Amino acid sequence: MTSSKEHGNPMWGGRFKTAPSELMQAINASIDIDKRLYAHDIKGSLAHVAMLADCSIIKNEEAALIAKGLHQIQEEIEKGAFPFREDLEDIHMNIEARLHEIIGDIAGKMHTARSRNDQVATAFRLWMKDAIAEIMAQLTGLADTISKQASIHEHSIMPGFTHLQIAQPVTVARHLGAWQQMLSRDRLRFGGCLDRLDYCPLGAAALAGTSFPINRAQTAEALGFKAPIGNTMDAVSSRDFVLEFLSASAICASHLSRFAEELILWSSAQFGYVTLSDDFTTGSSIMPQKKNPDAAELIRGKSGQITGLLMQMLMVMKALPLSYNKDMQEDKEAVFKAFDTLSLCLSAMCGMIGSLSFHTEKMKTDAGNGYSTATDLADWLVKELGLPFRKAHHITGQLVRAAELRRCKLDELELVDMQAVEPRITKAIYKVLDVESAVRQRQT
Ligand code: ARG
Repeated sequence: MTSSKEHGNPMWGGRFKTAPSELMQAINASIDIDKRLYAHDIKGSLAHVAMLADCSIIKNEEAALIAKGLHQIQEEIEKGAFPFREDLEDIHMNIEARLHEIIGDIAGKMHTARSRNDQVATAFRLWMKDAIAEIMAQLTGLADTISKQASIHEHSIMPGFTHLQIAQPVTVARHLGAWQQMLSRDRLRFGGCLDRLDYCPLGAAALAGTSFPINRAQTAEALGFKAPIGNTMDAVSSRDFVLEFLSASAICASHLSRFAEELILWSSAQFGYVTLSDDFTTGSSIMPQKKNPDAAELIRGKSGQITGLLMQMLMVMKALPLSYNKDMQEDKEAVFKAFDTLSLCLSAMCGMIGSLSFHTEKMKTDAGNGYSTATDLADWLVKELGLPFRKAHHITGQLVRAAELRRCKLDELELVDMQAVEPRITKAIYKVLDVESAVRQRQT
């Protein structure tokens, strides 16, 4: 840590007699976190200086010198040779100060018609666009992995549950398909977030715009944004893109946690539906037989962290007056953490699902338990005997009771015993009582 007690901050020290205290520096500095924005910050600066030159606000040679210096800085950072300084607060001022060391006073022209307020909002939006592209690709990868398992198990029967009680037989593909649908909506949510954040804050300067004749459309286009943000105060104050990103992340993480919970249940001895591969399980230091679903448990657990980060940023943003406030500097830490965690969880989930083996016999046996075809039986009474569904439901309930008394399954009840409840029942009813034909009868 370099102290700047004698000189004050080179970027804004002009009106100060002394440098900030150590404590001020400690609470103010964000460099440890926002250095991650370096490439996007440099990209924004390169577009900005090129535009300044094109608009004859700075000279072409000056823009070229600045660009060369910025490229050198990018290389230094990527080589791990960049001297990050806490006294220079953040990535923006670290880069500009280093540029000054490399090219001298011309470096100071880079910040013409710009403030750190529009600069950080631009860099962060650029970073987030890349992050969203990555998450969306991971979601697609996970959906493909689920699809592969679903097509292997297109006809494998398992119990469908409500209230965690066996409800009706379904196929493994139908069950997995539900997760796939939820994840595909997660992808759409990130896409919607991307769509709304894809506007460029540059040119807003501190908040009120700039008196320089800049070309905002040029920088927006050069950086791949759809357009400049219309209102300059909105450009520097809004962080709804942060809240949307965190909210899409939290919803996605909650889907992963539910899916993970099923893998935990299904891999238990009590269920015995799946075996998780050794790659995604751990042993116990005392119980040699144990194979614990730790990755799934951690995915389940980490959704709490991501939801917490959403809550954190909702609280930070709540009641902030216009326009920029330093509170908003907290946004990077929350978003980076949520991104890293979600990305890790998506990868781990993808690995777990891809290497999962299903025990289809056990699933099928369970699917036949708990009188799971009772609804199909009631449907048969409606279709074949023309009974109102409520009446059919009642009769079926009596048949379930009869099976319970005889400790047998519905398809093991004798025809005479069924006819004792409803005389019009024929042996044709047996075709809906086994799980496979029950599943085959489904129209939706
Ligand atoms: N590091 C700051 C942030 O992330 C950059 C903007 C600082 N702006 C200011 N007016 N102090 O928010």
